[in-house]
Amino acid sequence: MPSFHRRVRSIDLAGQVVVITGAGSGIGRELALLCAQRGALLALCDINGVGVSRTAEEAHEHGAQVLMSQIDVSDADAMRRFAQATFDRFGRVDLLVNNAGVAVVGGFLETNRKDWQWLIDINLMGVVHGCEAFLPAMVRSGRGGHIVNLSSAAGLLANPQLSAYSATKFAVLGLSEALRMEMKPYGIGVTAVCPGIIDTAITQDSPIRSGGDTDERRKRLMSVYRKRGYTANRAAHNILRAVQRNRAVAPVAAEAHLMYALSRATPPLARWLAARLADLSK
Ligand SMILES: NC(=O)c1ccc[n+]([C@@H]2O[C@H](COP(=O)([O-])OP(=O)(O)OC[C@H]3O[C@@H](n4cnc5c(N)ncnc54)[C@H](O)[C@@H]3O)[C@@H](O)[C@H]2O)c1
Repeated sequence: MPSFHRRVRSIDLAGQVVVITGAGSGIGRELALLCAQRGALLALCDINGVGVSRTAEEAHEHGAQVLMSQIDVSDADAMRRFAQATFDRFGRVDLLVNNAGVAVVGGFLETNRKDWQWLIDINLMGVVHGCEAFLPAMVRSGRGGHIVNLSSAAGLLANPQLSAYSATKFAVLGLSEALRMEMKPYGIGVTAVCPGIIDTAITQDSPIRSGGDTDERRKRLMSVYRKRGYTANRAAHNILRAVQRNRAVAPVAAEAHLMYALSRATPPLARWLAARLADLSK
């Protein structure tokens, strides 16, 4: 059993090798810094070289050894090279966090084929490539470990304003649940993390396809996330707690917990709530 699955007060990452994709911003960045503070050895990647360098420098200041790479998770070969570099440098991987993700705001009628491909390539295939590149060696090592895949509250309950995004996040949840059963004999835990509204740069960077004036729309979207006030740092703490407890599904933030509970107990009420939440950012 990996040492972080023990029932201790807070997860022990001293000397553990942690890989995080999308570590240049938001949840991935905060998770990297938290892991650094807790003594982990880090392999970080992001498509944004400036962002991931910044995170790596800060993690270094916390005393962490860091391997850093600028790669696109939708590129399977690049992911394999990143994995090879990680095993060459640290010899093993204990925790893999497939965090990199993007969003497109819009209903089905406003989402074009290019948007679909972009979301599928990064949100779903990025997770597949991460698992493909790291898992076989983790299994062969016989040391156990843990995988975290970033789904979303929109992967628990479909959001009509995030039509294609929801589809990719449902897929990540399904993959994670299947992988969890398959990996159990190898002592590798799998957690699907489903955040609610977390205030990160995703609100600035996501293309908006619906609702007319996009400047106005973006301001409203960003203001909903800002007012909600749930930070990426808080999300990172919750993710590590979910790893320690070896949770199958980990909602993050109250609205995600509520959506998870309602989607299981009373699906019609859950759908009503999801539609109201989507209206908030219209
Ligand atoms: N913020 C939220 O409210 C929220 C809610 C639910 C789920 N999530 C999920 O959490 C994860 C992290 O999002 P965040 O909110 O921290 O967003 P963010 O935009 O702050 O960070 C995402 C990071 O992923 C990187 N990235 C994007 N495409 C990439 C690619 N092709 N290859 C490598 N890196 C890439 C970005 O450069 C960025 O640094 C995502 O999977 C997102 O879908 C976020």
